[in-house]
Amino acid sequence: MEATRQIQRFPWGTADDAQVLILHFGSKSTPMIAQLLREIGLHSRVIDAGEIPSITASAYRPRLVILSGGDDNVANDGAPTIAERDLATFMQHGVVLGICYGAQLLAVKCGGKVAPAATPEFGEVQVQVTAPFGTYTGGTAVMNHNDEIATLPAGWEVWASTPHCYHALVGADRVYAVMFHPEVDHTEHGEALLQHLAFTLAGCTPDYTYDLATYVHECITWLQHTVPHGDVELGLSGGVDSAVAFALAQRAYGARLHATFVDTGFMREGELEEVQGYFGDTGISYLEAAPLFLEHIEALPYTGPEPLGEARYYDQVRRTVGQCFIDTFVNHARQQGRTPVALVQGTNYADIIESLTNLKAHHNVGGLPARLAVAVIEPLAGLFKFEIRQLAAYLGLPDEVVYRQPSPGPGLAIRMWGPVTRLKTNALRRATRILEELIRQHYPDPRQRPSQYYLALAPLASCGLMGDDRVYGYAWVIRGVTTRDRESYVTVGAFEFSHAFCQDAARRLTNEVTMQDGTRFVRVFVEITGKPPSTTEPH
Ligand code: XMP
Repeated sequence: MEATRQIQRFPWGTADDAQVLILHFGSKSTPMIAQLLREIGLHSRVIDAGEIPSITASAYRPRLVILSGGDDNVANDGAPTIAERDLATFMQHGVVLGICYGAQLLAVKCGGKVAPAATPEFGEVQVQVTAPFGTYTGGTAVMNHNDEIATLPAGWEVWASTPHCYHALVGADRVYAVMFHPEVDHTEHGEALLQHLAFTLAGCTPDYTYDLATYVHECITWLQHTVPHGDVELGLSGGVDSAVAFALAQRAYGARLHATFVDTGFMREGELEEVQGYFGDTGISYLEAAPLFLEHIEALPYTGPEPLGEARYYDQVRRTVGQCFIDTFVNHARQQGRTPVALVQGTNYADIIESLTNLKAHHNVGGLPARLAVAVIEPLAGLFKFEIRQLAAYLGLPDEVVYRQPSPGPGLAIRMWGPVTRLKTNALRRATRILEELIRQHYPDPRQRPSQYYLALAPLASCGLMGDDRVYGYAWVIRGVTTRDRESYVTVGAFEFSHAFCQDAARRLTNEVTMQDGTRFVRVFVEITGKPPSTTEPH
């Protein structure tokens, strides 16, 4: 049956007449701009850059227009752009800010020049304010660029620089360009920079508040109104987004709601039981589907080990896990004799903004519906993760769920190198359980833990000494990342584990885990890279 693909999103946090308009040029950190604006009390509207002409043709006149970053080079044919006419309209009625790619685009449109940077910058740099810009004081900022503004347009001035980027914060009346990313977690004082732009220079007035009681009341009413009768499905992963979507949908639909938890086999030992402990059995099916997933994954041809081959292989792994999940979920609903009319998903606002461009279709945005001819209902579509966590606490979910770290859909399948096998997966499941025990022991308060932590199995054969024997074994890599308060994974820092934690981890992970073919683990590494230049997950 073909899907209707009708998506209903609880309208929250965005408005067609928002004072701030964000033009999305493809950067992964675009959601963070909207998020930072909320923090300073402003709604915003995000559109794909392709829609600019229809906006300027309408009567809508935003006070502040922000051009996001993007992957392209402004000089490339076909690179996303803005017509002079549209830019002039925005500048005539408000203030325009460009970030990274957006900054370069503005510089070129205003008569400046962009060229490859002598020293490209990726990661944290120090910004020095050279002329006052509101209360912005500079400090650590995240850069992610190959090109720079080499020649300023006539009349532009410089407010801030970094050691390798003189034109870090530049502009003139009504047009501002910043080469670093004020919106990401690991940039300091980005809110001061945006406050000056939005309130002082653009004349915006605060218009966003987040009242939890109002949200819950209005959302439940909306859920009931949107699906007044029929069976409703929900995929429960145990993560905070699906847990909050479940809590709201349960209040709205009662016995009409059918949640399904699928144990893919790529979860840590005991995870199903843990989730069952949090949510109970009422209205939830717990499916153990590990054999199906493993069978399909082990059948994939391994195309590594060189980087491109490994990337291709893990892309296949991701797709295969997704496909098996859909099959399991859909077959279960059918076996139970249900013909659902709706599927509730915990898609959040960052997921939606990320999938505005086709560059990266988000797993939540458009996976399941293709196989289920149902309406897709998204009660959290206007919220960011930190707001969803506040809602989780308000709804009374246990702390372990409120602060639960995100987990990739493919789970442990993308936390190893080389082909995914049963042997590696079993060892990783066991070791991941140990890591969880260690984390709970050394960091009992979930708020003190890394935002995300995991173990990866490195089949890096090397020598160890066990008893009197020199044995060749494999290694573990421990990864812990921090995301600061706003918790997006656009940038991450490396978490500093305590020495006591590292010592216990080294001992337990080498002593207590052996692969079923007898292979031991003789080394434990702690990863120290941030993102950029690394990513959170190894694949
Ligand atoms: P990276 O590795 O890109 O990850 O820094 C950022 C965040 O996204 C999660 N992630 C995924 N989630 N399916 C998911 O559902 C995936 O394939 C996937 N890959 C990464 C990751 O856990 C981190 O929170």
